[in-house]
Amino acid sequence: KKHIRIIDLLENTKTLQEVNAKGWVRTFRNNQFIALNDGSTLNNIQCVVDFENTPEETLKRITTGAAISVIGTLVESQGAGQKVEIQVTKLEILGDSDAEKFPIQPKNKPSLDFLREHAHLRTRTNLFGAIMRVRSTLSFAVHKYFQEKGFVYVNTPIITGSDAEGAGEMFQVSALPFDNTPRTEDGKVNYKEDFFGKQTNLTVSGQLEAETYAMSLGQVYTFGPTFRAENSNTSRHLAEFWMIEPEVAFNDLAANMDLAEDFIQNVIKYTLEKCSEDLKFLENRLIEEEKSKPQAERSEMTLLEKLNFVLENNFKRVSYTEAIDILKNSKPNKNKKFQYLIDEWGADLQSEHERFLVEKHFKCPVILFDYPAKIKAFYMRLNDGTEPGKETVRAMDILFPGIGEIVGGSQREERLDVLIEKMKVLGIEEEELWWYLDTRRFGTAVHSGFGLGFERLVLFVTGMTNIRDVIPFPRTPDNAEF
Ligand code: 4AD
Ligand code: MG
Repeated sequence: KKHIRIIDLLENTKTLQEVNAKGWVRTFRNNQFIALNDGSTLNNIQCVVDFENTPEETLKRITTGAAISVIGTLVESQGAGQKVEIQVTKLEILGDSDAEKFPIQPKNKPSLDFLREHAHLRTRTNLFGAIMRVRSTLSFAVHKYFQEKGFVYVNTPIITGSDAEGAGEMFQVSALPFDNTPRTEDGKVNYKEDFFGKQTNLTVSGQLEAETYAMSLGQVYTFGPTFRAENSNTSRHLAEFWMIEPEVAFNDLAANMDLAEDFIQNVIKYTLEKCSEDLKFLENRLIEEEKSKPQAERSEMTLLEKLNFVLENNFKRVSYTEAIDILKNSKPNKNKKFQYLIDEWGADLQSEHERFLVEKHFKCPVILFDYPAKIKAFYMRLNDGTEPGKETVRAMDILFPGIGEIVGGSQREERLDVLIEKMKVLGIEEEELWWYLDTRRFGTAVHSGFGLGFERLVLFVTGMTNIRDVIPFPRTPDNAEF
């Protein structure tokens, strides 16, 4: 007989029939009550053991973490908090778990740090079960949104020969032997003898390839792993993260903003509906956590209020120049409370400035646009008619409360001559990107796109604060254990 998932037992199975459940023991009380979980839901099903007729040997093996199978009658529960329970008639230990050694003991309240060191077992906790179910639902919502709008899902390469962002933060890919690398006469690595006959790296963005597809299929999106060798050990950066990159022909910057806003609101809305129980649990966790903070530091909104706020309010659209004026005239700048003072137009915003704008000034998600050309990537559309030295590009960053930058995007430079000129200035070889330039040679048109860091979205939706806690096996400097 096939076992039934616990979520189905709890929600839609008729009582007074024999059922089989399989899962992992969370707790075992009074030699009688097993809380069994199988990952299908936050909730455990209570299994009541007939301890008088169960061998002592078996009872001893019902320990936290053990995998078991129970057969019994599904009955209405007498206890509070659960609708049904299983009156066990047959219990089988599938896999023992040594009570002394199993690291995830609920009664010890393992810290997030401890759980990170046990990333292979942390989904045995309610917290990580909830986070990973929410993550899964969000990723489905991403595909659902774009597929329903007729976007084509494009798988851009993981190994590439280009640096889309021009930031030089790439992990190199090589099949050359480590200690016997072929060298050219001047001592440089001879990549001609490497697997691909050229220097290659893990992708930092699928944008350039996605652009070529947008210029034929119209509306496309990517959703894949992305790699950055930036040595920033922060709670917002991963060396390996997942990025969603839509790219749309004939969209200008304003249409790009509309798409990004609608997309984010939609996937959050879908996840609120599908994961209400997990989100309620995550919200309660935060409410508990807040209680230990001084009143002034407590958040004004609960998690669900924050999510609903984002759905119900337009993102505030502000130009870089307006933002700089706000920052220059703000108190933290004047009282030197910002570590990095803003006094020059042209400076890149630090995360402290972004947080000030979003959390203190506007108190809502913000779309900053029209950044100085000098601080943005080569492919962004130069605005016409700006003063020399004050050139801006049609870039947009979306900033979220508690997160900072969640989206980076732009209208692309569609004019071949302007693009080539820009690449010259930045020292990007035309021959390296000949295929990219072809999109501007043959039927060029206005087009735009953006990249959303998936883990930053999961952080926002789950209310977690460290990006290491929203991806199964985080890759960060000095950490590739699993
Ligand atoms: O702003 P970024 O660097 O933009 C791009 O890569 C563009 N090519 C996207 C595009 O227009 N198609 O990165 C986009 C987003 C950021 O806003 C951030 O959310 C996320 O990717 N991101 C990271 N997330 C986690 N860890 C990192 N190290 C990240 N770097 C960027
Ligand atoms: Mg960016």
